[in-house]
Amino acid sequence: GNVYVFDHPLIQHKLTYIRDKHTGTKEFRELVDEVAALMAYEITRDMPLQDVSVETPVTEASCKILSGKKLGLVPILRAGLGMVDGILRLIPAAKVGHIGLYRDPDTLEAVQYYSKMPSDIGERELIVIDPMLATGSSASEAIRMIKEMGARSIRMMCLIAAPEGIERVQKDHPDVDIYVAAVDEKLNDKGYIIPGLGDAGDRLFG
Ligand code: PRP
Repeated sequence: GNVYVFDHPLIQHKLTYIRDKHTGTKEFRELVDEVAALMAYEITRDMPLQDVSVETPVTEASCKILSGKKLGLVPILRAGLGMVDGILRLIPAAKVGHIGLYRDPDTLEAVQYYSKMPSDIGERELIVIDPMLATGSSASEAIRMIKEMGARSIRMMCLIAAPEGIERVQKDHPDVDIYVAAVDEKLNDKGYIIPGLGDAGDRLFG
């Protein structure tokens, strides 16, 4: 799959404050929400349109509305939840499926603890959401799980990614495009993204 970096100035500006360790919980949550909305605006750029006719107060007009498949958001718990509301503000008709995974601190492998998908998962264009793509084991496992549950069209959206995580998802799921606000330098020996933003789940929820 391809990797798209959303380098819009507003996204980059807000991401800087998200990275800053002096940014407190309230502001962190607001910034993640705002960047998620801006990323939703970018990721929907290629949505197909269809013609409709509308009566304006003065005349009949040929206009456009969205056509094509409906969207589904799949946040990876917990941190992915921080991006859901921002995206739903722009795409209120999207359904939301939840995947619970935690990263085993020793093996760094993702361990599954919850999953609940909308019933029409196979007919939706799904966006898997997680602020961080580190080793990629959470993302790769989440994508494997939703494919097993019938998902056919999947994209991945993250705030920041390490090259290692991108490589892992591309290798395990070559059909999945990845959308990020930034690709960072590397992982440290604990599997944290460098320079990164710390632990997104902890900074959002404590
Ligand atoms: C963090 C983060 C991602 C995952 C990324 O979650 O939110 O889900 O790690 O790491 P990976 O690419 O190496 O799998 P964590 O396990 O800390 O759970 P949390 O979101 O509940 O805090």
